[in-house]
Amino acid sequence: MSLNALIDIDALSDQHIERIIDRSVALLNGAEPLIRSHIMANLFFEPSTRTRTSFEIAARRLGLTVINMDGPRSSMTKGESLIDTLATLHAMGVELAVLRHGQTGICHEILNHLPDGLALINAGDGCGNHPTQALLDAATLTSLGVAFRDAKIVIVGDLRHSRVARSNMALLSRLGVGNITLAAPEPWLPETVPDGVMVSQSSTLDDALDDADVVMMLRVQQERMDEGVDWAAYHADWGLTTQRLTRAKPDCWVMHPGPMNRGIEITDEVAGGAQSLVLKQVQMSVCTRMAIFESMLA
Ligand code: NCD
Repeated sequence: MSLNALIDIDALSDQHIERIIDRSVALLNGAEPLIRSHIMANLFFEPSTRTRTSFEIAARRLGLTVINMDGPRSSMTKGESLIDTLATLHAMGVELAVLRHGQTGICHEILNHLPDGLALINAGDGCGNHPTQALLDAATLTSLGVAFRDAKIVIVGDLRHSRVARSNMALLSRLGVGNITLAAPEPWLPETVPDGVMVSQSSTLDDALDDADVVMMLRVQQERMDEGVDWAAYHADWGLTTQRLTRAKPDCWVMHPGPMNRGIEITDEVAGGAQSLVLKQVQMSVCTRMAIFESMLA
């Protein structure tokens, strides 16, 4: 008889107990599991809607088993280290961990301490990197036939805090983009750009947009700033409006990783307009994350 609830030992017949114990030992000794699937764990220590959901949907479409762990509700609040959590999950069979964390550089820090056989994907570390977002952005542009070498790609806004911008600079440069232009108020320009990346800077959005093929808007990350933001002034100088967009090429694509501050970084009209790729990026995010899983678990 199959077991449908295991509440206490009294619920188990002698045969159940015998079967479970025998099977446990057989599995430990290498017997083929009856259900074969990789297990991935989503570990999100910062809020997320689209990234977390997209990783989960991608995993499910590949038949992976998904474990969702909320940082604030896990044992880490009892002082367990991230490495211990990962080792514990791996000992239970998790082969791939997707990590989002507020601490810049955390993935690099833990890399050498990962248990053997546990793969790790950085889903965004503080102001560090967000490689899967950059890959899905590039896949979105590729699907539309954008020729990277000849393209002028403008990245606009809170570059200093943006892991999306950092990873995009690195990837777009690797893809041979000749003109990556950064446009931001002076205090929000990045302190450094990734090694080997050449960028131009523009001190106004209007100038930056001249002849652009792609404009990537960034969210203003107020939660990572000490100072307040004058939203109206920001919108007046740096918000992407339909009128401003006419400075770019007529077929210039508009991207935003989300979540958008509508009416601040971008108007409703531009976000919902024909040049906007916002939902195409989300759609591609599932495919790109599937492709990433395949390349890590195959
Ligand atoms: C970005 C992130 O979390 O880094 N969003 C995302 O992954 N879709 C950008 C942001 O939060 O501003």
